[in-house]
Amino acid sequence: PTIFVITPTYARPNQLAELNRLRNVLLHIPQVWWLLVEDREEKSELVKNFLTHSGVPHTHLHQPTPPEWKVKDKSPRWTKPRGVLQRNAALDWLRKNADPHLPAVVYFADDDNSYSIELFQEMRWTSQVSVWPVGLVGGVMVERPLCLCRQGVEPDQARPMVTGWLVGWKPERPFPTDMAGFAVNLRLLLDNPDASFSLESEIGFMETDFLSRIVTKEELEPKAECCTKVLVWHMNAVNPNLKDEVRLRQLGRQTDIGIDV
Ligand code: UGA
Repeated sequence: PTIFVITPTYARPNQLAELNRLRNVLLHIPQVWWLLVEDREEKSELVKNFLTHSGVPHTHLHQPTPPEWKVKDKSPRWTKPRGVLQRNAALDWLRKNADPHLPAVVYFADDDNSYSIELFQEMRWTSQVSVWPVGLVGGVMVERPLCLCRQGVEPDQARPMVTGWLVGWKPERPFPTDMAGFAVNLRLLLDNPDASFSLESEIGFMETDFLSRIVTKEELEPKAECCTKVLVWHMNAVNPNLKDEVRLRQLGRQTDIGIDV
């Protein structure tokens, strides 16, 4: 099966640095298609150039977040949901353009996390929705599904099952996983044309609201050795120190004119 990787991305000083880290992983993954969605009115030259030379099969999309849904500069990041309309734009694109008979899996990979190559091997065989642990998220070292993966018992009990979750924040959520912790079979998204992310989801409930519409806990497929291995880490970069750049710009001596950084 093909893996469609959906990545929302937005302009900030470390955007290209983050996109390159993800690109370098995707270059190791066979049969991958990257749907990179810019949070902008128009596609940027920076991302266009980056993708053209990336070596990764891709589609470049854009979908702006309306100003009232943008995180205000001084507010904490979590006050508004992020990447929502961009992921939905990619889902729309898939529904219009993907071959419905193509065996494929969809993964929502934010541009700033750390992904292992092995993660993609795990998710490739997903019948409906597969799940696995995510490191460094939700205020804990690892959030993970608790699974039962006995082998050699009666056939109807032999299928690996998710029995619960080990998380710190809001454990009462039906699917308490980060965006990085699951993949979905394309078929399921085509069969559920209304499944999308919502700006109106309660903060931190975006993933759980989405999954609730397409799958039940009993149907989840545990990966990563019965959810005992961490193959992806949720990350947030520290903003680079651009103190002198600000000063030089005031003097008309911006350092990045004519060069993509
Ligand atoms: C957590 C989850 O890991 C995200 O998947 C989820 O979207 C987010 O919470 C949420 O609840 O909205 P977090 O690290 O807080 O993630 O979010 P970011 O990594 O800052 O943003 C998620 C994605 O959206 C990134 O790919 C980022 O480039 C993109 N984004 C962010 C935009 O497209 N526009 C923005 O204005 C900000």
